[in-house]
Amino acid sequence: MALRVGVAGATGWTGRAVAEGVLASEDLTLAAVVARKVAGQDFGTVLGRDPIGLAVDGTVEAALARGLDVLVDYTHPTAVKAHTLAAIGKGVAVIVGTSGLVAADYAEIERAAGAKGVGVIASGNFSVTANLLQYFAEIAARFVPDWEVFDYAKAAKPDVPSGTAQQLAERLAEVGRPKSATPIDRTIGPKEARGADIGGTRVHSIRLPGYVIACEAQFGAPDERLTIRHDAGSGAGPYVAGTLLAVRKVRSVKGLLRGLDRLMFAANAG
Ligand SMILES: NC(=O)c1ccc[n+]([C@@H]2O[C@H](COP(=O)([O-])OP(=O)(O)OC[C@H]3O[C@@H](n4cnc5c(N)ncnc54)[C@H](OP(=O)(O)O)[C@@H]3O)[C@@H](O)[C@H]2O)c1
Repeated sequence: MALRVGVAGATGWTGRAVAEGVLASEDLTLAAVVARKVAGQDFGTVLGRDPIGLAVDGTVEAALARGLDVLVDYTHPTAVKAHTLAAIGKGVAVIVGTSGLVAADYAEIERAAGAKGVGVIASGNFSVTANLLQYFAEIAARFVPDWEVFDYAKAAKPDVPSGTAQQLAERLAEVGRPKSATPIDRTIGPKEARGADIGGTRVHSIRLPGYVIACEAQFGAPDERLTIRHDAGSGAGPYVAGTLLAVRKVRSVKGLLRGLDRLMFAANAG
């Protein structure tokens, strides 16, 4: 039977592409869409097509009341945790695409999902190539002991760092901590200039018009440097395939799984 999928943020840059991807899939049913400004309108009409008989819900609670198997969230950093916990409370699996959650939020989500036996997959980036950046960076960190992370986005992006940079820094922390730079307490000048400390990695968020989103890991060794960088284009297409992969796998997950790469390489392994 087709999985019943709800998309929160379905009129947004990413959520709309994901909702269209669900509509185009034979094994998935678009059972609910959430967005506040066009609540009550037919989603087909909102997309500029013929009506599809599915009204946009103004809240995630209304969407959950329709009976979902999976909720996908691409809304806003201030809303995603409450949406995720509400879905878990109803026994609905969740794909967390929205950025802005920190380690303590994920710990809370993990506890709630574990207690309910519900699957949650969160990834700072659902693009397959961005996950390769993370995979390659983790390998580099095993051989080059010093690195910093740079996160580039449009000026209006409200949260720092990007979900991609946050997840990358947390993963690099599992490999080790850069050691060579002058410790922050002995740094002379405004310490903010050295970026945020995420698991021991300095993360620098650049917010300028002209960028879509990019993430770069720089590894430095005496007399040489390695840069691994991912640049997103202007469309949301790259996130759709990864999100739908997660939608199809999430019911085999119990508790929280972080990182699309863990699904990708698990899938490749067999
Ligand atoms: N993990 C990834 O691969 C990935 C990829 C792209 C983006 N993102 C992240 O996904 C999030 C969304 O990005 P975007 O560029 O798609 O945003 P966007 O274009 O601003 O769209 C946001 C969507 O969420 C809805 N929304 C906003 N606040 C809401 C709330 N409180 N309750 C319910 N719906 C709400 C908006 O509609 P209304 O305002 O009408 O409610 C709209 O449909 C950001 O955090 C972004 O960083 C992650």
